[in-house]
Amino acid sequence: MEYNIALLQGDGIGPEIVAEAVRVLDTVSVRFGHKFVYTRAAVGAAAIDECGDPYPEATDRICREADAILFGAIGDPRFDNDPAAKVRPEQGLLRMRRALGLFANLRPVRLHKALVDRSPLRREVVEGADFLVVRELTGGIYFGERGRGTDTATGEEYAYDTCTYTRPEVERIVRMAFELAARRPRKKLTVVDKANVLETSRLWRETARAIEPEFPGVATEYMFVDNAAMQLVTRPTAFDVVVTENMFGDILTDEASVISGSLGMLPSASLGARHALFEPIHGSYPQAAGKNIANPMATILSAAMMLEHLGLSDEGAAVRTAVENALEAGAVTEDLAKKGDRPCSTSEIGDYICRQISPEK
Ligand code: IPM
Ligand code: MN
Repeated sequence: MEYNIALLQGDGIGPEIVAEAVRVLDTVSVRFGHKFVYTRAAVGAAAIDECGDPYPEATDRICREADAILFGAIGDPRFDNDPAAKVRPEQGLLRMRRALGLFANLRPVRLHKALVDRSPLRREVVEGADFLVVRELTGGIYFGERGRGTDTATGEEYAYDTCTYTRPEVERIVRMAFELAARRPRKKLTVVDKANVLETSRLWRETARAIEPEFPGVATEYMFVDNAAMQLVTRPTAFDVVVTENMFGDILTDEASVISGSLGMLPSASLGARHALFEPIHGSYPQAAGKNIANPMATILSAAMMLEHLGLSDEGAAVRTAVENALEAGAVTEDLAKKGDRPCSTSEIGDYICRQISPEK
């Protein structure tokens, strides 16, 4: 079969990690007899430099025409320290998520066996952790009305960001989370909110409670986000599927990445009714850009999720096994290397994984 893949490398380490994922996909295509046709498109700071727009129309068109999108990372320190910057790379990512309707961000958090002693958390706490965070991605405070002004009475400057959710927005993501939970062996769903304070959270909780009877096989619990932040690192094995709003999901998944040993291990899928994008959860790590030291595994595992989304489950499994083998052999980049061990480079990891998948092996 032939598949059209849009490649959005983005900024910082984006080009390097996407390049390794593409080598892995090419190796998969040789072994399994598929054809991946790539179309590259600019996004983020790279696109601002090219044409002044972090999500140009041409990129939008390429994404819409693709069977799937593979995304690297976005962000550039040139824009971070400029509060007056009119355009920011991150706007490209947010506009893209919104334009393509990618409302569901699935972030699986797993601790690979070979990495139990790499997590800063104790082995007995993290061993066996394997859960899925379902983050709402196109609503909430990320997309609400915002602004700045000066109070005419007091002369004080102010800024505001508003968090809004409609019931249908909550329903579709919560229903998806229930469906995902129902398909997993443990069948447990944790709805994370701040319903003791926020009205939007009360809407979330109400909506989830209304859907609950449709999934009698799923054990549902409700948890405040502050408590969830604590329990994620004290009892990570207690979670199965977690569903939450956009910003809580952003924060909790960076936190959850410590369970896996490195932020460089966590892949994600951003899904909508028509389009699907696959991206590592980490950022553009500008300090490492061009040095061939970044961990490409999150992007390679994102490519595995992409293969599975395209219905290529054996192919996805082959990539996952290759990553496991690399980890077991100690083939890891510096974020995961043990003291005294020589860390592998980005491309050495790609080499290793490709060799594992290669038909000549
Ligand atoms: C992520 C990132 C983005 C987000 C940034 C780059 C806008 O942190 O994908 O988690 O906050 O959603
Ligand atoms: Mn984030």
